[in-house]
Amino acid sequence: MSFINENFLALQDSYLFSTIAKKVAKYTEENPEKKIIKLGIGDVTKPIVPACLEAMHKAVDEMGTEQGFKGYGPEQGYLFLRKAIVENDYQARGVDIQEDEVFVSDGAKCDCGNIVDIFSQNNKVAITDPVYPVYLDTNIMSGREIIYLPVTEENNFKPALPEEKVDMIYLCFPNNPTGTVLEKEELKKWVDYAKQNHSIILYDSAYESFITEDNIPHSIYEIEGAKEVAIEFKSYSKTAGFTGVRCAYLVIPKTLKGYTKQGEEICLNKLWNRRTCTKFNGVSYIVQRTAEATYSIEGKKQIRQNINAYLENAKIIKEGLEEGGFTVYGGVNSPYVWLKVPKGMTSWEFFDQLLEEVNIVGTPGSGFGKNGEGYFRLTAFATKENTIEAIERIKKWR
Ligand code: MLT
Repeated sequence: MSFINENFLALQDSYLFSTIAKKVAKYTEENPEKKIIKLGIGDVTKPIVPACLEAMHKAVDEMGTEQGFKGYGPEQGYLFLRKAIVENDYQARGVDIQEDEVFVSDGAKCDCGNIVDIFSQNNKVAITDPVYPVYLDTNIMSGREIIYLPVTEENNFKPALPEEKVDMIYLCFPNNPTGTVLEKEELKKWVDYAKQNHSIILYDSAYESFITEDNIPHSIYEIEGAKEVAIEFKSYSKTAGFTGVRCAYLVIPKTLKGYTKQGEEICLNKLWNRRTCTKFNGVSYIVQRTAEATYSIEGKKQIRQNINAYLENAKIIKEGLEEGGFTVYGGVNSPYVWLKVPKGMTSWEFFDQLLEEVNIVGTPGSGFGKNGEGYFRLTAFATKENTIEAIERIKKWR
């Protein structure tokens, strides 16, 4: 008899975005004539920029030659990409990260989920509520005790430090789903807490390229002491339109330590490297060359144009909804806009009405956690035309 991991039985039946996709597919099948505008899952619509596409084509051609062909690559990622990451994403901001502290992967979602492999099941985990469901579900799967940190209008969607000692803390800024950010001084409090309590911060920085305001850290390592307490996750998905290409990376500084039951310090970079070599064969050469091109002069320029266009959409959503009488958060340093649903309605009721009456797809706040009830998330990743049309439809309907 093969016994199952019963922790899975504690999960909700279906992953949030799968549930939404199923509902939308059913509605589309029953109403094929309707034009549905999707502002639900954070999937991009702008194609890969020319600089990246050129690098991708070149890498494809190389693979067809004897000299250029690549088989298995380094599990941690090719040095050319790790060098580009270190120089552009860290050294350019005055942060000292080394190439062997960077692990290239096929997505931040996978990284955020897989990282739990190297931590004890007995760790107590702090997770904000609402939250990107991957942190929560993967910790439920491995049976850890979870402490929820409420994120509400009352605390400006900025979690308070845990009242008890926790071992692992998930933070995501700019935040998914609320779109809020932490200033340097605010993030420093978390780093200090983690230092005092020997906790690890799992810092999801997937939306860093959408930061527009000053004094907002683009990396947790801009905060003094963070290299002793934090793992950082970054992604090319929203930044460079790689949701389908798949490429991301995580950083585990060599100064970051975990503990055995006996209190012996263990280098987490070493553990993750061991895990990576066993379970992963690296991201394809073609994809890594494409990712490298995001750091070329042309690549940076083209990507910035796309991000600015998405930020413009976020502004259209935010200002349009405000004009329509909604209370709205986020959308300034983030592609996500977090709005309050009309009084007396649940998030899912609002979802259903929006889908059926104006054919707009969003994400119900309660799908991100109990405190998300009464809220709704819209994304800025549609085309400008569709974004304008969606907001006009909502305003008229309201
Ligand atoms: C979201 O919509 O929250 C994200 O696109 C999901 C993801 O990145 O996995």
